[in-house]
Amino acid sequence: MTAYDQLRSELPKSPRTWLVTGVGGFIGSNLLEALLKLDQRVIGLDNFATGHRANLDEVRAIVSVDQWRRFHFIEGDIRNLATCQAASKDADYVLHQAALGSVPRSIEDPILSNEANVTGSLNMLIAARDNCVNRFVYAASSSTYGDHPALPKVEDQIGRPLSPYAVTKYVNELYADVFGRCYGVQSIGLRYFNVFGPRQDPDGPYAAVIPKWVAAMIKNEPCNINGDGETSRDFCFVQNVVLANLLAATTRNPEAVGQVYNVAVQTRTTLNQLFSMIRERLLPEFPHLGDSKPQYRAFRDGDVRHSEANISKARELLGYSPTHTVETGLSEALAWYKKQPWSGTGISTSKSSDSSQPVLLAT
Ligand SMILES: NC(=O)c1ccc[n+]([C@@H]2O[C@H](COP(=O)([O-])OP(=O)(O)OC[C@H]3O[C@@H](n4cnc5c(N)ncnc54)[C@H](O)[C@@H]3O)[C@@H](O)[C@H]2O)c1
Repeated sequence: MTAYDQLRSELPKSPRTWLVTGVGGFIGSNLLEALLKLDQRVIGLDNFATGHRANLDEVRAIVSVDQWRRFHFIEGDIRNLATCQAASKDADYVLHQAALGSVPRSIEDPILSNEANVTGSLNMLIAARDNCVNRFVYAASSSTYGDHPALPKVEDQIGRPLSPYAVTKYVNELYADVFGRCYGVQSIGLRYFNVFGPRQDPDGPYAAVIPKWVAAMIKNEPCNINGDGETSRDFCFVQNVVLANLLAATTRNPEAVGQVYNVAVQTRTTLNQLFSMIRERLLPEFPHLGDSKPQYRAFRDGDVRHSEANISKARELLGYSPTHTVETGLSEALAWYKKQPWSGTGISTSKSSDSSQPVLLAT
């Protein structure tokens, strides 16, 4: 029996209360769906800065009426300490996902990123401390590796941050560590590598590469690659991230607490390979992709050439083992994108994703 099988059999028998911040976002709404399906009670907090009510509506449509009744949503901002205190009052576990993602966004507006990601996370840590939550699990980031050249990335070897976003995510780790030592807050940080899956937003200037390309291919718009396409990433399906969060929150291994972990698959996929994988899977339903090729442009400053995680630490201390490869994850993600209203016509109908914008690779 895997650690995940064990969780799935144990959790429904002893429901707990989970606070998911950023619940209206991509990863947050996938956590919500998984927890409700396991008959857990969930409090969700979001200000919809980048998340969407439609994500919550979709979860509502997927789970049972009884499971949905166990969800309590608070529309609020983590920059407000009183809101964080109120949201975490009854929480056994906090899964802190709320943040302003995106490296380019943080370069354009470092103060805003700092307020949401640093002040907001500090507020959440204080609230978790004051409300004596059992475990504080938070979304860290592979961007913390910065300019460190080693591959695959090992948790204790980091370089200099390459963006304000990376600074904010590293500061989260420093605060979580200090809150462990000063106040006994039990935290676990999860350094996500490029996450993808259902409900990841294809729209806007800060969209990530997979949703952006999928939308562009379906709509018969160009897909741009910055550089020669041999840049590689450790793309991680969102269900692997859900698994890591549940394991981190519930682990009884004392050595596992107060640590940060890579959450990825430990497989590198180049952008050229990724383009082919998506194209092949869409081709049967979208024959206009028959002779489709990416458009190559100049390398973008600040993009790390290769990224791949070593996931041994999460395997050993948390019992983490990815449930999805890039291939199986892509198939599930594409099944979701194909169901979106804009996918039916091959023409952009809803909010248009501007595929002329560079894609987001750093996380
Ligand atoms: N997606 C990735 O590849 C990736 C990689 C590394 C780390 N992360 C981290 O994972 C977390 C979730 O990312 P995501 O991809 O789901 O992004 P997302 O933008 O879909 O979700 C973030 C959510 O946080 C909410 N939020 C932002 N500021 C807030 C505030 N001040 N108060 C309350 N809610 C606020 C947004 O409205 C949104 O719903 C983030 O912390 C992100 O930095 C993501």
